Amino acid sequence: MSKEHTALLLGATGCTGERVLEQLLSRGVNVRAVVRAAGRLPAGVAANPALTVIEAELLSLSDDELRRHVAGCDAVISCLGHVINLKGVFGPPRDLVTRAVSRICGAVEALRPAEPVGLVLMSSVSVNQPGRLATRRGGLERAALWALRGAVPPARDNQSAADFLHGVIGTDDPFVRWVTVRPDTLLKGDVSEYVLHEGLVSSLVRPDSTNMANVAHFMCELVEDPALFDNWAGKMPVIVNAVVAVQ
Ligand SMILES: NC(=O)c1ccc[n+]([C@@H]2O[C@H](COP(=O)([O-])OP(=O)(O)OC[C@H]3O[C@@H](n4cnc5c(N)ncnc54)[C@H](OP(=O)(O)O)[C@@H]3O)[C@@H](O)[C@H]2O)c1
Repeated sequence: MSKEHTALLLGATGCTGERVLEQLLSRGVNVRAVVRAAGRLPAGVAANPALTVIEAELLSLSDDELRRHVAGCDAVISCLGHVINLKGVFGPPRDLVTRAVSRICGAVEALRPAEPVGLVLMSSVSVNQPGRLATRRGGLERAALWALRGAVPPARDNQSAADFLHGVIGTDDPFVRWVTVRPDTLLKGDVSEYVLHEGLVSSLVRPDSTNMANVAHFMCELVEDPALFDNWAGKMPVIVNAVVAVQ
């Protein structure tokens, strides 16, 4: 019999998060979803007995509460992102993703689970692999992204969340193992063939595309397939559609 999995999902009401939620449930994974408003969850999931909804302001949860929600989970998936409006982009919390990731890691460390918890972070191709030069990017592109991170808090937040996992948690942590998933331009559409790369394959002027359903599929596979997780642990795979969409 295959192992029963329980995943804590952050950002389940978002465009990608709702796809992750639906796919996890359809695979029989138990899901605990921390959401600000349960009414924004996709229709039809509320009645699923494998879903536990925690309606709360994520960053306002106490350390005790967070530990309680994390306890017993073998995976945590973050599909958090800043809401794309003036308040969401420039208002607090500017470090939503970084704080969420670091608090989740703190909760896991405090619990000292017998088996490490797999943390899967949704990130972006605009995020640098720390310590590695993005060789696919020319000087102009690197300068543009550097300026973007300076001017736009969500871009900076995504980079610092990835830097935190890489620099603070690292690859030898006994309790947390992580994969930072970097999609390119997100598209709707069904699960289709997709490709995973260790590094960048596109540029800002010629971006690739990634179906959100494919991001969700890869994240679910990471939860269910320990060998796949081992293969990508401590890395920042770029995920792109195998077939280029005709615009
Ligand atoms: N758009 C792209 O082409 C693209 C490409 C690559 C990577 N990405 C990155 O991928 C990630 C997810 O993208 P997405 O488009 O799927 O996200 P999205 O649809 O904007 O969803 C964001 C999620 O985060 C939650 N959230 C926002 N602010 C919050 C707060 N203060 N406290 C708690 N939860 C909060 C939202 O909850 P509510 O429903 O309550 O607002 C929602 O569930 C983002 O980090 C984004 O930067 C995007």
